[in-house]
Amino acid sequence: MALQLGDTVPDFTQDTSEGSISFHSWAGDSWVVLFSHPADYTPVCTTELGTVASLKPEFEKRNVKVLALSVDSVDSHKGWINDINETQNTTVNYPIIADPDRKVADLYGMIHPNSLNNLTIRSVFIIDPNKKLRLSLTYPASTGRNFDEILRVIDSLQLTDYHQVATPANWKDGDDCVVVPSISTEEAKQKFSKGVTEVKPYLRMTPQPNK
Ligand code: BEZ
Repeated sequence: MALQLGDTVPDFTQDTSEGSISFHSWAGDSWVVLFSHPADYTPVCTTELGTVASLKPEFEKRNVKVLALSVDSVDSHKGWINDINETQNTTVNYPIIADPDRKVADLYGMIHPNSLNNLTIRSVFIIDPNKKLRLSLTYPASTGRNFDEILRVIDSLQLTDYHQVATPANWKDGDDCVVVPSISTEEAKQKFSKGVTEVKPYLRMTPQPNK
């Protein structure tokens, strides 16, 4: 069965462009974004991996490690990284898993043969420090992902975990948040010092607590 939100994600040991990684111990107490791409030396993937490299400080600020994957070899990854750095004006500063035996791809369901035969499609997994799956996204091979959206989801998940608020449609950092349904309005008024607006008994808004 496909991995579902809330599941403990599978552990694995696999070679990467930065040496062998045992996933759970490599992740440690960090959040992780694990994302697959179809193949090295392809145009959309080149832009994606460059974009992730330039966003690395944003991931680090949020205690997130990033980890890419395709079914190519370590040597292929290493050669391609030079091209990414040259063409995307960046330095790839995170590991890319070499998964020629499809071990990790199969564990995480990254191969969708009716869409792209034998290659990984564009999967994204956000994994929390307890190794629980918190988001999964699947994009087609022809569409480069919006990694600002991945950062936005991480911000939302961390607000829920650390401040007990949820985020409304199209929320951006700094916008008002939603009080989670498990907190009563009375409790919310005590907890959120910036104030709570009760639009409906089930729809309570509060300024973003960590701003
Ligand atoms: C790309 O990265 O450009 C790509 C890879 C596989 C299929 C289509 C596009």
